[in-house]
Amino acid sequence: MTSPQPLATELLSAMYGAVRSIQLYPSENEVVKRGLREVKEQADLILKHEGGLSVWIAGNYMFVNDLQVRLDLHDYATLAALREVFRRHGVGRMEAAPRAGADDWQAFLMAIAEDPSPGQPPLEALEAELQSRGVAHISVGPPSPMFEGGEGERAVEAARRTYARSVKVARDTMEGLVLGKAIGARRAERAVLAVVDQVLQEPATMLGMLTLRDFDDHSYVHSVNVSILSVALGDYLGLNREQLFELGFAALFHDIGKVLIPPSVLNKQGWLNDEEWRLVSQHPDFGLLMMFNVEGFEVLPYRAMLAVYEHHMKPDLSGYPRVIRRRRQGLLARIIALTEAYDAAISNYSKQFLPCSPDEAIRQLREAESGAYDRILTRAFVNMMGIFPVATLVILDSGEMGVVVAPNPNPKALNRPVVRIIATAEGERVGEGPIRDLTERDPDTGQYRRSIARSTDPARYGIKVSDHVA
Ligand SMILES: [Fe+2]
Ligand SMILES: [Fe+2]
Repeated sequence: MTSPQPLATELLSAMYGAVRSIQLYPSENEVVKRGLREVKEQADLILKHEGGLSVWIAGNYMFVNDLQVRLDLHDYATLAALREVFRRHGVGRMEAAPRAGADDWQAFLMAIAEDPSPGQPPLEALEAELQSRGVAHISVGPPSPMFEGGEGERAVEAARRTYARSVKVARDTMEGLVLGKAIGARRAERAVLAVVDQVLQEPATMLGMLTLRDFDDHSYVHSVNVSILSVALGDYLGLNREQLFELGFAALFHDIGKVLIPPSVLNKQGWLNDEEWRLVSQHPDFGLLMMFNVEGFEVLPYRAMLAVYEHHMKPDLSGYPRVIRRRRQGLLARIIALTEAYDAAISNYSKQFLPCSPDEAIRQLREAESGAYDRILTRAFVNMMGIFPVATLVILDSGEMGVVVAPNPNPKALNRPVVRIIATAEGERVGEGPIRDLTERDPDTGQYRRSIARSTDPARYGIKVSDHVA
């Protein structure tokens, strides 16, 4: 039996696909017919297994029957768009009876594909419309007051909590090691697992956390950011949960060796002298040794330890520690090298460089000299993040301003992410504005409705991008 999660996702994507084709083509068009058939088939599969079918919207989440549909980066655009369609009509819940036939589905989807008719509350208008179209076995209802406005915030809250907890664990562990305290592995393991699960559930929300600048503890924030980015990339590459855990663990402690380096050297303004550089470049060696001081591992996380040792080695082995014999920098270390370069570029950890915008950081990685990063992983990372990563503040050619909330799932449209509009063309702030998919075209002209003109600096506009992501 197919597991319920893909069924639910398939149904919702089929529904959105059908709505889009109804909006674009006349109803007798083959694309429309195929779209409707697909919805009916998916719905029937679920109805057959579960005897009923309801779709719920709860804040930013969607549920099919009791199952929360996992909004991953791939489906984000589709599902967010379908959610918007429902919301526009004031629909929080839709139910289909087992007897719902092709006619019911066609009439229902046609009704919601249209703009709500003005003059009366949208849900009432839709209900009247469904009745006049003779829809007998599909019904709609308002959002449950229990959910309204809550779940989305709760997702962000949960992500923030996980984030804050991980920063604390990273700090306690590293500070403890400096003081020579016995450090238990358990707490760190739990924190890493929380990051893994949060990234698996809500990658976009978790990646949005990278823009939080509420913590001023640079090295710990960096550790947690690298952990989040690495786990997200690992998931994108298809690593399993156990591998993601190892990766997240290695990432959280990749710079642990820096605790042995005097802050006066680490935070020095200006260039390091030879002696200072020799010290700094030993942090992977120190890190490996310190991992042995963590107590309570059931099995020594040797792959993570190796990654700590190798994270500055570079694929062409031109980095450090220098190696005499030919070897291969491991996968985890290659991932961490990439994600930590990205995080360092967008952050103001270093006194020597100004932070750059996420799209600039992506550009730097793409244009890095060969041998610096693994080429294939770099491409995967760019595909995952998009040319304009989550939380980039962008100005659109429509004059609107928006914050990127998800990359485009199509690797051919990396420069057309999903954007939340936060200011109109007239410059009026709209806060939680509508979500727009930049691959949307005007059906009359075939032109894209909106494109990114350029990215811009949130600080210039006093905007906190993390408020708008998720
Ligand atoms: Fe490092
Ligand atoms: Fe680092």
